Amino acid sequence: MSTSRAKPKYYLTTPLYYTNGLPHIGHTYSTIVADTIRRYKRMRGFDVVMTTGADEHGVNVERSAKKAGLSPQEFSNKIAVQWKQLWDDLQIPGEEFIRTTDERHHRTVHWLFKRCRDNGFVEKGSYTGQYCIFDNAYVVDAEPGGPCPDCGRPTETVTEENYFFKLSEFQQRLLDFYDANPDFIKPESRRNEVLSFVQGGLRNLSITRTTIRWGIPVPEESPHVFYVWFDALIGYLSAVGGPEYDERGLWPADLHIVGKEIIRFHAVYWPAFLMAADLPLPRQIWAHGWLLFDSQKMSKSKGNVVRPMPIVNVLGIEPLRYYLLREIVFGQDGSFSYDALVSRYNSDLANGLGNLASRTLTMIEKYFAGEIPEQTSANGKYAFTTAEFASEALTRITQLYDRLNFSLALEAIWELVATIDKFITVEKPWTLADRPEDKERLSKVLYTAAEGLRIVTALAHPVLPQSTEKIWRQLGLAEPLSSVQLDSLSWGQLKPGTKTGKPEGIFPRIEKSEAIERIEAMEQEQSKPAEASATTPRPAPAAAGAAAPATAPAVAATTKIGIEDFAKVEMRVGQVKTAERVAGADKLLQLQVDIGDEVRQIVAGLALAYKPEDLVGRKVVVVTNLLPRKLRGVESNGMIVAATGPDGSPVIAGFLEEVPVGARLK
Ligand code: MSP
Repeated sequence: MSTSRAKPKYYLTTPLYYTNGLPHIGHTYSTIVADTIRRYKRMRGFDVVMTTGADEHGVNVERSAKKAGLSPQEFSNKIAVQWKQLWDDLQIPGEEFIRTTDERHHRTVHWLFKRCRDNGFVEKGSYTGQYCIFDNAYVVDAEPGGPCPDCGRPTETVTEENYFFKLSEFQQRLLDFYDANPDFIKPESRRNEVLSFVQGGLRNLSITRTTIRWGIPVPEESPHVFYVWFDALIGYLSAVGGPEYDERGLWPADLHIVGKEIIRFHAVYWPAFLMAADLPLPRQIWAHGWLLFDSQKMSKSKGNVVRPMPIVNVLGIEPLRYYLLREIVFGQDGSFSYDALVSRYNSDLANGLGNLASRTLTMIEKYFAGEIPEQTSANGKYAFTTAEFASEALTRITQLYDRLNFSLALEAIWELVATIDKFITVEKPWTLADRPEDKERLSKVLYTAAEGLRIVTALAHPVLPQSTEKIWRQLGLAEPLSSVQLDSLSWGQLKPGTKTGKPEGIFPRIEKSEAIERIEAMEQEQSKPAEASATTPRPAPAAAGAAAPATAPAVAATTKIGIEDFAKVEMRVGQVKTAERVAGADKLLQLQVDIGDEVRQIVAGLALAYKPEDLVGRKVVVVTNLLPRKLRGVESNGMIVAATGPDGSPVIAGFLEEVPVGARLK
């Protein structure tokens, strides 16, 4: 390594996300995890670099581009910019954002291919197989037309002349490597899965395509382009110097964070490519589980995605980070629920950390004129040895962070919050303040609370970077919290006499049903038009219908569509049979609508503009072929078409002449 560093380097990556759509909270989860590790490692003395980016080649991007009436490059440019923008909006940009269309990446792929070929690990051959164009992967053992195990879509039979990577020659080397590096694949369950896959024998892998045009051309081998995985994985290396990786001194990666469905590509193909090219291997690959919604993997194709921005607009970024890391055991699948999200916000952030900070700082302001009091040697009622409590907790919690056990780390930090809270409640500083003879004790109690709060704040910083930084400043601490080293944190460092800042509410309590309603309304509004606008925060809309089309093609808002696309939307005349309010949701009505051959339940955001009884008997336009969707737990099977009136409220579309129920609109 030719770079000299004052601190040891730590290089980590998120997956490079496909640009055929925009991020949902599944993708956001991976990036939040990586960002938390980045912040934690900085607090442990590392010089950290994180790469995220965009995987732009392949058939699915080509198809989405065609639908949007753009060239793949134009389309991908638009989407990649929005991904990058989203990470900026969420304050989690990588130090590097690699695009697989970058010239630096093309160079690296060419270079790596040449090294593999020169070393004798590439050969020409022909391949026929079942291929899932959405996941860009051949499906081994699938029948012609059989479903893709990941997305369930039918596979296509593909025969083509390819360059093959001689993966079969790496079986033993990989097994030896896994054996010598037991922590290479995490968690254990994924390691076992990969081991048995490799033990079962490896087939050579086709790494180029002639059937696809949208890819990196193989030099002097037109029409071959690189297969997406040979292309995308190399992005991790292109981002930090490519052929000149030694100059930046960041390669090999210390950690690749991925979702469990792409573990094989990362833990088998990637190390084999690197072995073939005589390059250093990444140190660890951590595969996390899936965010589920209604018990299924959240994914665009299933139409059950939750977008990050509506949550961020209503609750803020940090409650989302906290919820995802606290609620989901890292490595396992976890169900996403708005209810649990807002409950966690109220119980742990508003009533927990936020309340502890505000009561401690308010009392210091009131009883000690806003200066950290002396620790004093007065005895307290409540027996906990503060120094021990802090040092034991520091060790335990850093160990949990080291194992990426975020949920237990946060649980342990919040136990400290509860301990300090209880200490204050038992000691009753407000009573001590009434008795001059208890001044020393009051001083000690509030010092203890403030010092406990300082330690807790530092420990929570990787997960809650902005709010902990605020609390830190309110404690009067000048050094930015992000540059504090956890290893040098110990009890008693808070200096008496430090001037504290004005106590400000960090996490105001929020009414649960109202918060959920606002998030859902924004979510619905965002998924209605083009996905291309999904990163732009917008105010709560007058959303009329439910079950908005989550599969709306990207960039469609400005794009003209053919009649065949319009024909995909089925609209019919419906008649409202019953209408009632949805409990706990101000804007929503639950309707039973007769659409001719069936009665549909539809949840619509009409309650502020229409009384339920005024809708009964009314003829409406219903979009009937939308994917069902749940709103406030009630299934909605269609959408009522409405315009947005001048004051923003919905105005239902209707007819001047008589029309039969069930008639199709065209
Ligand atoms: N382009 C490839 C990765 C290439 S890496 C060299 C790809 N892209 S993707 O856009 O489909 O992103 C997949 C990743 O997004 C998953 O591996 C995971 O990290 C994250 N997630 C996508 N959906 C998710 C959930 N429902 N739950 C949790 N994470 C999810 O695969």
